[in-house]
Amino acid sequence: MKAIILAGGKGTRLRPLTHTGAKQLVPVANKPILWYGIESIVEAGITEIGIIISPETGEEVKAQTGDGDRFGAKITYILQDKPAGLAHAVKVAQTFLGDSPFVMYLGDNLVQSDLALFIAAFREHHLDALTLLCPVANPSAFGVAKVDENGKLLQLVEKPKVPPSNLALVGIYIFAPTIHEAIASIQPSARGELEITDAIQSLIEQNKAVEARQIRGWWLDTGKKDDLLEANRVILDTCLQHQVQGDVDAQSQIIGRVEIGQGSKVVNCTIRGPVIIGENCHLENCFIGPYTSVADQVTLIQADLEHSVILQGAKIDAIHHRIVDSVIGQRAYIKEAPRRPKALRFMIGDDCQIELN
Ligand code: DAU
Repeated sequence: MKAIILAGGKGTRLRPLTHTGAKQLVPVANKPILWYGIESIVEAGITEIGIIISPETGEEVKAQTGDGDRFGAKITYILQDKPAGLAHAVKVAQTFLGDSPFVMYLGDNLVQSDLALFIAAFREHHLDALTLLCPVANPSAFGVAKVDENGKLLQLVEKPKVPPSNLALVGIYIFAPTIHEAIASIQPSARGELEITDAIQSLIEQNKAVEARQIRGWWLDTGKKDDLLEANRVILDTCLQHQVQGDVDAQSQIIGRVEIGQGSKVVNCTIRGPVIIGENCHLENCFIGPYTSVADQVTLIQADLEHSVILQGAKIDAIHHRIVDSVIGQRAYIKEAPRRPKALRFMIGDDCQIELN
């Protein structure tokens, strides 16, 4: 079994962050979203992984992720020249896939699930396709499945105005090579994309063996700022270990599960976990509250933050308000604010400079 991870596309929903970078590289608990997918695939015993990249962000994905050594996998990068749809991405990967069955994993999805169990079911039932489903409150934003009382998949529709159920298609699929013929038989949808849902629907119509399973764990769509903060909260809650490698002075207080990376310096701060601080950061006279991720090389002076994500190289200098529910882009610089009673909420892209006077 092989795997492909889709890390192309445009990433319009996380703008301004994704004006400058790939949405799959936005970190959750200081790790790129894409890497969670790679780790889950490797954990399921698959080591031959193709990553679909776009001309715009492909080089960045390659540079950060590498050849797979760090994950115990062999990664092949496959260029998709335009974001022409999920099924188009499979077409582009056909030479890499050959006649192997494969897992297709959407690189912007964060899913808590035991992939190996689903692969076992796929093999045991000799399926052409296995899709994963999760009940959601807003099915119209996703591919939606109609299933019968025994869980048999009857129909799939992409982002329907009137959804046939509340069961959304999670961005993990397992396919036999028969999917390639199905893809060859479909036409672009109204939004101009070759939809994988249409290809699976065509398998269903040909009475091929297509099944769906509901996932039990969480599934986080990282499309928007609040989704990203929620993903960060869940991962910090479930995965974070207490590990302090940096330098913490005697005036500082570390409470709960807190990870502090090598080379980081914490001076006269209170950090209340779950919190992750990356490498080579400088924190001085700060309060860092629960559910905060601070990436590498960040400087925080007299900052008071909570439930926020601060990306690499950002600097916050003497903000006298509490910063909450915020995402601060790479190398962004926020400086000095007079004392006012209100909280501040930000979605700040890379390279911004903000002065509050
Ligand atoms: O997240 C689950 C949903 O993902 C499913 O419920 C939908 O059925 C499925 O179509 C998909 O919908 P999205 O509209 O969210 O897909 P998006 O365009 O965000 O692309 C998903 C990933 O695939 C993302 O990492 C970008 C990448 N991609 C996307 C396209 C269109 C590519 O690599 N190439 C592409 O051509």
